Amino acid sequence: MAKLIDGKKIATEIQERISKGITRLEGRLPGLVAILVGDHPASLAYVSKKSEQAELVGIRGEVIRLPETVSEESLLGEIDRLNADPEIDGILVQLPLPPHISSKKVISRIDPTKDVDGFHPINMGKLLIGEGDGFMPCTPLGIKELLLHSKVDLDGAHVVIVGRSNIVGKPLAAILMQKHPNCNATVTLANSATRDLSGLCQTADVLIVAIGQPEFVRKEMVKKGAVVIDVGINRVVDESRPRGSRLVGDVAFEEVRHKASMITPVPGGVGPMTVAMLLQNTWSGYLRRQAATLAESVS
Ligand code: GUN
Repeated sequence: MAKLIDGKKIATEIQERISKGITRLEGRLPGLVAILVGDHPASLAYVSKKSEQAELVGIRGEVIRLPETVSEESLLGEIDRLNADPEIDGILVQLPLPPHISSKKVISRIDPTKDVDGFHPINMGKLLIGEGDGFMPCTPLGIKELLLHSKVDLDGAHVVIVGRSNIVGKPLAAILMQKHPNCNATVTLANSATRDLSGLCQTADVLIVAIGQPEFVRKEMVKKGAVVIDVGINRVVDESRPRGSRLVGDVAFEEVRHKASMITPVPGGVGPMTVAMLLQNTWSGYLRRQAATLAESVS
């Protein structure tokens, strides 16, 4: 039976460390602003969680809610205002955005030094070439932390990532393949058109799934003793539950747990780590900003 990788516990430890650092501050507190366009229930839940957890560690967390019909121009204007605000260290725009707004344009407008989601092309570029002074996207960074914490030896391991999104798959591949202690993996980035996907998954020492399809990975697709990381959060109908539904990942947990050596649960695996990494990025952004202000004042 696989050992459970407890993302909630690891995330709590990280957040306690950030909280301790913030308690020692004198003066300005770190500030994080999340912009939510429209009222998609899942996006609202994610944004509320991020802001609530920010407040818990001592970061000032604000949510700016804009109507679904807001113009691209107004949203860009809001970002300009936050870019110029010296009290704000982190800005995130919850995705997806309505179709009349270009997420590419919006993400590119955020000051890269405040881009705590790590989605700005400058931060993505820095990640790809291994420059450590940018921000890395939160879910991939959280997965790296989970693997590190669980002492999974990635050096030379075959990591198969299923799902090539800009938010998870692509940046995660770039992180895990880096020539760096605790990385140095041989990464295969697969997608739904990959030939013999099942056969490929069976060759994975570490299998990471981020495709948004409920219980897509079955036990036949997993090598005995593999480490399995499930990034999916899918709500499926279950009449036996009080809400009439339940959350499942992209992996058929109950059958795969008997074959894997370690596995993340859903919920309580990758999800809490995404939030912890967002707070960690905001805290690093704050420290960099304060250091730059100090350097300016003495020069
Ligand atoms: N939508 C799904 N995941 C994310 C995320 O990590 N950040 C933002 N901004 N939007 C998302």
